[in-house]
Amino acid sequence: MPQRLQHLLGIEPLSAEQITSLLDMSKPFQEIQQHSLKKLATLRGKTVALAFFEPSTRTRISFGTAAARLGADTMNLQAESSSLRKGESLLDTVKTLDAMKPDLIVMRHASSGAPQFVAERLAIPVINAGDGTHEHPTQGLLDVLTVRDRLGTLADLNITIVGDILHSRVARSNLHLLAKFGCRFTLCGPAMWVPKELETLVPNVRRVLRIEEAVEGADVVLVLRVQTERLHEPQLPVDEYILLYQMTPERLRLAKPGALVLHPGPMIRGLEIDPAVADGPQSCVLEQVTNGVAVRMMLLYLLIGGPPPELPGEAPTSVAQKDSTHAAD
Ligand code: CP
Repeated sequence: MPQRLQHLLGIEPLSAEQITSLLDMSKPFQEIQQHSLKKLATLRGKTVALAFFEPSTRTRISFGTAAARLGADTMNLQAESSSLRKGESLLDTVKTLDAMKPDLIVMRHASSGAPQFVAERLAIPVINAGDGTHEHPTQGLLDVLTVRDRLGTLADLNITIVGDILHSRVARSNLHLLAKFGCRFTLCGPAMWVPKELETLVPNVRRVLRIEEAVEGADVVLVLRVQTERLHEPQLPVDEYILLYQMTPERLRLAKPGALVLHPGPMIRGLEIDPAVADGPQSCVLEQVTNGVAVRMMLLYLLIGGPPPELPGEAPTSVAQKDSTHAAD
C-alpha cells in the first residue's frame, strides 16, 4: 500500500523497494544536471530552510543548489554567526526558523536524533543532512545511485569500508542501505574504530585487520575521512595510519577489476587515500557530488512539490541513536 513520505530521517526504516523507487525518481534530476539550462520553476514560491549546526561544504551547497534549480528560495542558518552562540536552544532556534514559514527544513546537527526531535515538534518535513554518528541518508542515497549507475546493480555486492567506521554516519547509512540488497561487508580500520558490535548492525558483516585482505575481491571500496584529532584514541601516529590503512593503487589492484572507490568527502589526500586513487579511473568522488544535487532535487520535489509524494510500503520513521558524539563525516 503506497504511503506518504513525510520526512527523511534515516535509511534504516526504508525498504529496498522504497529505496529503489527513490533512486529511480532521481534519474530525471540526474539528466537535468547535464543541461546547459538547469533551472526549473517546479518549486517556485516554496522556501527551504537550511539549518546547519555543524560545518558542511558538499551537503549544504548541494541542497542550496537543488532548491535553486527547482526555483525554491532558501533561508540559511549558519551556526557560528547565529544566536546559538548566545545560548539559544535547538528547539527555540528551529521554532524561530519555522515562524518565517519555510516549507521544509534540511538539518545537520552534532547530536544523533536531533532531526527526529525537530520532526516530532514541527508540522513541516525535515530532511536529515547528517546527525551525530547516526545517519547521513542523502549521502547514502547518492552513494548507491552512483554505484548502481556504474555497476548496473546493487544486489549481492562485496563492499569494503575502511577507516573510522564507529563514528561514521556515512558508513552507517551505507550499511543499512546496501544490506537491504543482500550485499556483504568487510570492515577494516584500527580496532577501536571497528568494534565487534558492528557485526550485528546488519547481516553479512566481517571485520578484517589487514587492508590487503579487506580489499581483496571487493566490488566497492568506501574510504572514510580520518579525523586526525581522533588518531590519539587508538594512539596511532598519522604515519602508521598511512602505512596500515591508506588506499593506494597497489592495494586497490587486489579488488575486482573495475571496482569502485567512493569517498564522501571532505577527502584528505595523502592520508586515507593516495591522490593516484582519488583521481584515478575507479574513483567516483566527483560523480558522487554531482549525483548529490540530483538526489536532493528529487527529495525536495517529492516532499514539497509535484504529484502526491508516495512510496511503496510502510511510512518510514526513524530510530535515532541518542548521543552527541561528533561524527567522523
Ligand atoms: N559528505 C559530506 O557530508 O560532506 P560535507 O561535510 O562537506 O557536507
